[in-house]
Amino acid sequence: MEQDWLPNDLHRAFETEGTTAYCVLPHPDWRVERFGADILASCKWAPPWEIVPEILSRMEAAEVAVERIFVRDLPRNPSERDAPQQTYGNTDLPPEGWAVEAGLRYHLDFLAGYSAGFFLDQRANRARVKSLAPKSLLNCFSYTCSFSVVAATTGAATTSVDLSKKSLMRGAGNFDANAIPREGQTFIADDVLEVLPRLARRGEKFGVIILDPPTFSRGAKGRPFQVERDMATLFQLSLELAAPKASILLSTNCTALRTKELEVLARQELKHARKGASIQWGARLDDLPTDQAARTLWVDLK
Ligand SMILES: C[S@@+](CC[C@H](N)C(=O)[O-])C[C@H]1O[C@@H](n2cnc3c(N)ncnc32)[C@H](O)[C@@H]1O
Repeated sequence: MEQDWLPNDLHRAFETEGTTAYCVLPHPDWRVERFGADILASCKWAPPWEIVPEILSRMEAAEVAVERIFVRDLPRNPSERDAPQQTYGNTDLPPEGWAVEAGLRYHLDFLAGYSAGFFLDQRANRARVKSLAPKSLLNCFSYTCSFSVVAATTGAATTSVDLSKKSLMRGAGNFDANAIPREGQTFIADDVLEVLPRLARRGEKFGVIILDPPTFSRGAKGRPFQVERDMATLFQLSLELAAPKASILLSTNCTALRTKELEVLARQELKHARKGASIQWGARLDDLPTDQAARTLWVDLK
């Protein structure tokens, strides 16, 4: 299994910036992620008895202590995704852990489902939210609210919207885990396409808006959401909610929608709304090649 494992100096660089959640082996067929002393391996083909010794020896060489390894299949079809299984370490411990990034903590549950609770590939976008330090942030499709937590640390009032009450509750827990008071923070368990027009009617405005939808989902009233079809509507709605000089993040994992296409879509809608903006593609990550990370675009309104 000769692949490009993360060089040792990058392990040290992440740790120096207070980050122990990063990818140590980015490969389309077998990806290995580190979360402190826990490892999550996702594989298309490799059996655990082959993976575990290789991970342990690579981590030892990188001077990273490993307590547990969880392994999950990487199926072609998202509907076949299963929760990982623990294949190394003490199985009597609760299957929970922490993603620590830039000194902030996010709760993980490795056996809760296919995703443990934190997406590594949004690291650079979370860092940008921090540097923008908005007064208010609207986090659409917020999942466990990582963008909201980052914004709140610089004083933002955040609004997190997700269909899943459970994800929002985990998100609220992430505020607690970082000793951020929940006052001034809003959690809305509803369909984003229903919530955004409601917020616009109330005249609400936000300094940063995050649009990070899934490729496909079924909304609150059974309405199908499809990113290729609905991203333009989402962006239009977000323009109505944008404060002067707001920044809007468009992000997608849909392989059929490339960054160039996101840019074309954004430019069309901006023209329609007669708004000026500067557009930049999301920053590259040191540990994940662009073809294995979400495609992201920042629209900074003038
Ligand atoms: C890709 S995840 C978002 C990840 C998140 N931005 C992060 O960085 O952690 C997609 C989320 O969208 C939510 N979702 C799917 N369809 C939705 C809809 N129509 N309205 C609101 N939330 C929805 C799911 O429950 C899920 O939590």
